[in-house]
Amino acid sequence: MSTSTLFTGPPFSVSRTRVDMTQHVLPQFANSLGNVFGGQVLAWIDICAATAAQRHCRSVVVTASFDAVEFLLPIKLGHIVVLRGQVNATFNTSMECGVAVWSENPLTGEVRKAMRAYTTFVALDEYGKARPVPKLVLETEEDQRRHREAEERRAKRLATRLAATNAPRG
Ligand SMILES: CC(C)(COP(=O)(O)OP(=O)(O)OC[C@H]1O[C@@H](n2cnc3c(N)ncnc32)[C@H](O)[C@@H]1OP(=O)(O)O)[C@@H](O)C(=O)NCCC(=O)NCCS
Repeated sequence: MSTSTLFTGPPFSVSRTRVDMTQHVLPQFANSLGNVFGGQVLAWIDICAATAAQRHCRSVVVTASFDAVEFLLPIKLGHIVVLRGQVNATFNTSMECGVAVWSENPLTGEVRKAMRAYTTFVALDEYGKARPVPKLVLETEEDQRRHREAEERRAKRLATRLAATNAPRG
């Protein structure tokens, strides 16, 4: 398969970062309730988001934070987990990635949204230092909305970190 058929959209666009992953919920991924173990889905989300981040910056990335994770519905043993991730926003050396997770019933075809998460990744250079990332190209209104919301989340995150740094120690 050539690069041109695998990746769509102009260089550094949101669509170029998009990652689709599927996983079957096999018995080893289930908890005692017969649903997928939450930590396992977090690992899949981390991989999905990291892949999106790397498609954008083409360098080593590390997970800096899971900013928000919502478990909306349990995902059952035997169902198919569908993950879709993309870079929502780029800052200086960091990127916010969003991942939505659906549960697909393989017998009926019913698909329900089960989770969503926002994560921040930092690009590293060959010395392990944070390195600048290319600016994200926003093509659609949806891209613009996600970017705006990511900026709001970053502003809140930075304010929280600043407040924690300035809090009196006792
Ligand atoms: C994430 C990490 C690289 C940041 O390093 P640092 O020396 O604190 O870097 P800086 O303070 O220069 O910040 C670099 C960027 O990281 C972002 N960042 C740092 N800590 C963050 C956090 N907790 N949440 C979100 N972003 C964070 C900063 O906002 C900055 O982004 P910007 O350049 O776009 O503004 C470092 O803390 C680290 O290596 N953490 C461990 C990562 C890891 O092991 N992950 C799990 C396995 S991949």
